Amino acid sequence: MNNMICNNTCQSVLYEGKSKLICKGIDDDSLIIRYKDTLTAFNGEKKEVLSGKGKLNAAISNLLYDYLEKNGIETHIIRQIDETSTLVKKADIVMVEVIVRNIAAGSFSKKYGVAEGTPLKNTTVEFSVKSDKLGDPLINASQITAIGLAAKQELDEMVEKALLINTLVRALFKKAGITLVDFKLEFGRYKGRLILCDEISPDSCRLWAEDTGNKLDKDLFRQDLGDVLDGYRKVLFQLTMNN
Ligand code: TMP
Ligand code: ASP
Repeated sequence: MNNMICNNTCQSVLYEGKSKLICKGIDDDSLIIRYKDTLTAFNGEKKEVLSGKGKLNAAISNLLYDYLEKNGIETHIIRQIDETSTLVKKADIVMVEVIVRNIAAGSFSKKYGVAEGTPLKNTTVEFSVKSDKLGDPLINASQITAIGLAAKQELDEMVEKALLINTLVRALFKKAGITLVDFKLEFGRYKGRLILCDEISPDSCRLWAEDTGNKLDKDLFRQDLGDVLDGYRKVLFQLTMNN
């Protein structure tokens, strides 16, 4: 029944994002997210459809969110519907992305001149505005509260949760022989609580194989490094086999 609510010819799409469709849920408190096969980078400038990517990201993110729930982190997930669709709590998304870094890479390396792969002496947390139109610009805590994107208490809670999520997910990846370099989180307000929304997947993380150092995430696509889905498949396989 639920599969019928949100299929390819779905009439109930509320919003189409770059990598997900947001569809009407089963009641006023829920939504269905459907993972797409589309992969984009550089704020949508580079785009490709990789058949099967949606399924992989759904499986990886659901596995990680299930693990986080078991470890006391409330997420938006209610239940998986099918291979690409998940029923989630309808939260009011905080329009601030939280980026956590353990090792220098990406924009951090570029901006601060720190060689990619340099371990950071402490985990860093930074924020960007969730806005494709503005290109997700970096923003600091006082600017966030000044504009009213989030309250000080919410920001503090997001940072605390992000650091705990980092500790938990990093340990899980370590068991799977994968280094969690950095990742991006989104939170939402739901019935007075701040809950983890969106996804944690190779689209939103940097993940390096411990043995080879090979990249297994969206940098494969951003930097044209080879078979993108092969990297994503390895992430799912190693997480499944080692946990
Ligand atoms: P960055 O080094 O490009 O700032 O990216 C940091 C992390 O955030 C990396 O794991 C990829 C993730 N990320 C997203 O999930 N969405 C985005 O739009 C960007 C720019 C990065
Ligand atoms: N998420 C952004 C995009 O899809 C940027 C990126 O991941 O590089 O275009």
